[in-house]
Amino acid sequence: MSVNKEIKRVTTHILQEMKNRGEKIAMLTAYDYSMAAIVDAAGMDIILVGDSASNVMAGHETTLPITLDQMIYHASSVVRAAKRALVIVDLPFGSYQGNSKEALNSAIRIMKESGAHGVKMEGGVEIAESVTRILTAGIPVMGHLGLTPQSIYKFGTYTVRAKEEVEAQKLRDDALKLQELGCFGIVLEKIPAQLAKEVTESVHIPIIGIGAGRHCDGQVLVLHDMLGINKEFKPRFLRQYANLYNVMNDAIKNYITDVKAKDFPNEKEQY
Ligand code: KIV
Repeated sequence: MSVNKEIKRVTTHILQEMKNRGEKIAMLTAYDYSMAAIVDAAGMDIILVGDSASNVMAGHETTLPITLDQMIYHASSVVRAAKRALVIVDLPFGSYQGNSKEALNSAIRIMKESGAHGVKMEGGVEIAESVTRILTAGIPVMGHLGLTPQSIYKFGTYTVRAKEEVEAQKLRDDALKLQELGCFGIVLEKIPAQLAKEVTESVHIPIIGIGAGRHCDGQVLVLHDMLGINKEFKPRFLRQYANLYNVMNDAIKNYITDVKAKDFPNEKEQY
């Protein structure tokens, strides 16, 4: 086994210490080697191989079609690049909801075949048996509550969740349940900031928000969204840190112009 002695890997234990001392946790998605290498070198704490790969990498409308094999392919590319970040992989739709034995097999495949450090699963009390079985095998599990895109056909829309008290109370209960089962952290997606604050303060494990306000212990975004690669997707919670669509579009247009004008390659760019 090759061990890099200079870079200290982020662990679930380190994330817990960060929450304890009030240091915010930065998490971002990545799905391939080259992008993950940039994200990791920048100092990211957690890289999430999200099933949002189904949208941003494969062009599907929802996260439902992506398969376990496809997630393992993305995850193993990311793991090869990540020297520092903790790499967490989404268990895709259909790989864990049915029964806990299948859930464990799916999680084991991800850990064995990609070398990732843990899995993320959407849902609360409904998936408790699967979460427990995976945790019993020594695999770190991150929960995901609020807007859970694998249930989009149940919700019917991607709007803010848990605005009504009944759903908010279920979310509070689910967060406590996931903590009690032994999850090392929970993602809260698209819920009111006040509810996210309450949950963050009521559990001792790290809470990572996306569209859940500033009081969470950390934040996560989809890489392609924050880099401005997707032109169309601009929800209110998204801060766009670059406009790579325009940067890339200009570069590619310039290349086409140079090729057509017989300007590329020039004397120095040939053998
Ligand atoms: O799949 C994903 O990218 C996610 C984040 C939005 C948290 O689950």
